[in-house]
Parts: sequence; structure tokens; C-alpha cells
Amino acid sequence: IVESEQLSHIIERRGSERHELLPMLHDIQRAFGHVPAAAVGLIAEAMNLSRADVHGVVSFYHDFLTSPPDRPIVKLCRAEACQARGVEKIAPIFEAEDKVKTVPVYCLGLCASGPAAMFGDEVFARLDGDAARRLLRLATA
Ligand code: FES
Repeated sequence: IVESEQLSHIIERRGSERHELLPMLHDIQRAFGHVPAAAVGLIAEAMNLSRADVHGVVSFYHDFLTSPPDRPIVKLCRAEACQARGVEKIAPIFEAEDKVKTVPVYCLGLCASGPAAMFGDEVFARLDGDAARRLLRLATA
């Protein structure tokens, strides 16, 4: 009940315009850590969409999780500028830490100071081996 009240609150706050769908899903994921199954029906109803439409959007964007993550998630930028700044050299450090799920993202807006990563709402720039290990310690603490 608490979950559906909170979902309804988020949905009402965003309104029923179609362009609010993605921001709404992001709000929901921020609040719950994933997009609960119950959200799909509530959003479909509020926006006059089919459940399949909403589900299609949730599953299209890899950013949205449909169940709670089993490990902390670190987003590591693998886009061009971060590649040029050496992300592939530090990526194995992240990939070797199995208490964390490292997912690729394509630009965090820190291209001039990459390699860049994000954990929670925090972004990390100029990652080298030591900084990568510090970030992983933070993520597994
Ligand atoms: Fe990595 Fe932009 S390319 S932050």
C-alpha cells in the first residue's frame, strides 16, 4: 500500500503528458531503486497508454531496472572521450570486483576530465587505478 501510494504521488506530480513518461520513470527508479511492476499499470492508466506501451519503454532503456539490483551499480563511461583518456585501462579493475555491478554508460558530461564514472548520484572524474579502487571501496562499504 505504501508503495502504491508513493507511486501514485510521483505519477500525479508529473501529470499525464507523454513527454513526462521518461522523467516519471526516472523519478520512480530514484525512489525505489527500480521500476516496480505495479508502476506499469498505474502509469498506463494515468497516461492513457497500454501496459505494453509502458513496458516497452521500460525494457527499451537499459537504465531502468525491473527488479531491485542485487549489487551496488557503478556506471563507467565507455564513450569516445573517456576511451581516449584511458578508460579501457581501468575497466578491468571494475570488472574484477564482483561485489559491484559495473555497467557501461555513454557519456556522463565529464568528457574533458575522463575517465568518468557514477555511483548513486555522485560522479567521479579523472579516474586512474587508485581512484578506481577508492570508488569501489566506497561502493562496497
Ligand atoms: Fe565519458 Fe563524456 S565521454 S564523460
